[in-house]
Amino acid sequence: MSQSSSSGRGLFSGNLGYVLAVAGSAVGLGNIWRFPYLAAKYGGGIFLLVYFLLLFTFGYALIMAETSLGRNTRLSPVGAYRSFADKQHPFLKIGGWLNAIVPMIILPYYCLIGGWIVKYMFEYVTGGSTAAATDGFFVGFITSNFTPVFWHLIFLGCTALIILKGVEKGVERASVVMMPILLILAFVVAVYSMTRPGAGAGIAYYLIPDFSKFSIMTVVAACGQLFFSLSVGMGILITYGSYMKKDVDVEKATIRIGFMDTTVAMLAGFMIIPAVFAFSGGDATAVNAGPGLMFITIPKVFASMGMGTFIGLAFFVMVFFAALTSSISILETCVSTLTDELKWSRKRATMFMFFEAIALGVPCSLGFGAWDFISIAGLSILDMMDFLASSILCPLCALLTCLLISRVVGIQKLIDEIKSSSAFRGENIFRFCVTYLAPVILTLVFLSSVAATLGFIKI
Ligand code: ALA
Repeated sequence: MSQSSSSGRGLFSGNLGYVLAVAGSAVGLGNIWRFPYLAAKYGGGIFLLVYFLLLFTFGYALIMAETSLGRNTRLSPVGAYRSFADKQHPFLKIGGWLNAIVPMIILPYYCLIGGWIVKYMFEYVTGGSTAAATDGFFVGFITSNFTPVFWHLIFLGCTALIILKGVEKGVERASVVMMPILLILAFVVAVYSMTRPGAGAGIAYYLIPDFSKFSIMTVVAACGQLFFSLSVGMGILITYGSYMKKDVDVEKATIRIGFMDTTVAMLAGFMIIPAVFAFSGGDATAVNAGPGLMFITIPKVFASMGMGTFIGLAFFVMVFFAALTSSISILETCVSTLTDELKWSRKRATMFMFFEAIALGVPCSLGFGAWDFISIAGLSILDMMDFLASSILCPLCALLTCLLISRVVGIQKLIDEIKSSSAFRGENIFRFCVTYLAPVILTLVFLSSVAATLGFIKI
């Protein structure tokens, strides 16, 4: 951020600066780690179909809504909500805080998975790539009580240090180089995976919708993934919108960000799902490995490739950078709320979040080891936190944002905000989605998630 707005707030430099910062936030573990395992778990092609339907309707509309709300108010979520919530709508004040709490829930386990990436990077540097490809390596790693916590601290420490030292610019510049390399590498690995013997069944599973696999949980999971991946419903886009210059074309930026995010997620699916089929000898149940899917499958792909160790190392380095730019945006949003609302210094807010992420991240890690007896609705501690954040709170936050916009702010005000710098071709879709479609689907998703948590629906 270079310049300041009239309110004294730092601003992203122009179109490119904004798109890169938000794409850096959006493209991360959500695309590479989370998307493939959820697509695999929830029926492959049918998950993809639902995901795309949601993306083109309210995914697009919600990004625009949150961004323009932030730009219009020049405030992070709590302040943005408070500046509109009035006596007739007191419940909306909670919406701001809910938006602010979501990244505080995500940060701890995000950094834990980031730590897993650092561990794999380390293995590839120190000659452990063959071991990493063996059955049992990943499970042995995450079930140990100390090692994953150590790597978690490393990743979290890097994130906190960047926020404290203000070297986001350097990281952003690095990711401008890293992002295209990641895309090329992902493409190469995807082609390699798809051409392995037996991979055809995986491609078919990934692309062809099987309607018998559809359930309300497909919608819940696809919706949660959309939020997680596009950083919607977690205060990030409101915060980043508040740093956006008035002449940035909101609609074009949204389309570019959505395109980049979806391309990386699709490629990750093509890298991992066909490989699962190829390397498990056609055992379809292997796609249900859950959060470990990428860590179990990808090393096997590299082990079978020429120059696999080198390509594997390059891959994990790129994923590390993608994850770091996202974790920075998550922590930045938390820090922005604490400094705006509690008038804390940046240092104090960062240190608070650092310890919070340890306090919640360690139980997530132990949930695979010493505390694996703790589970709700069959979910581990990490899965529970992820479900709470992305499937319960994100839809609720997005629902409240839609209500705030349609009932209090007035949708026209945001349309005018967007039109001040965009042609806004999707105005009618935006109006329809924010006013009618999104509230209905989000209510449905929210209620289904709660019912699933209470055990009425199988997750
Ligand atoms: N949107 C971020 C990701 O996908 C959180 O990793």
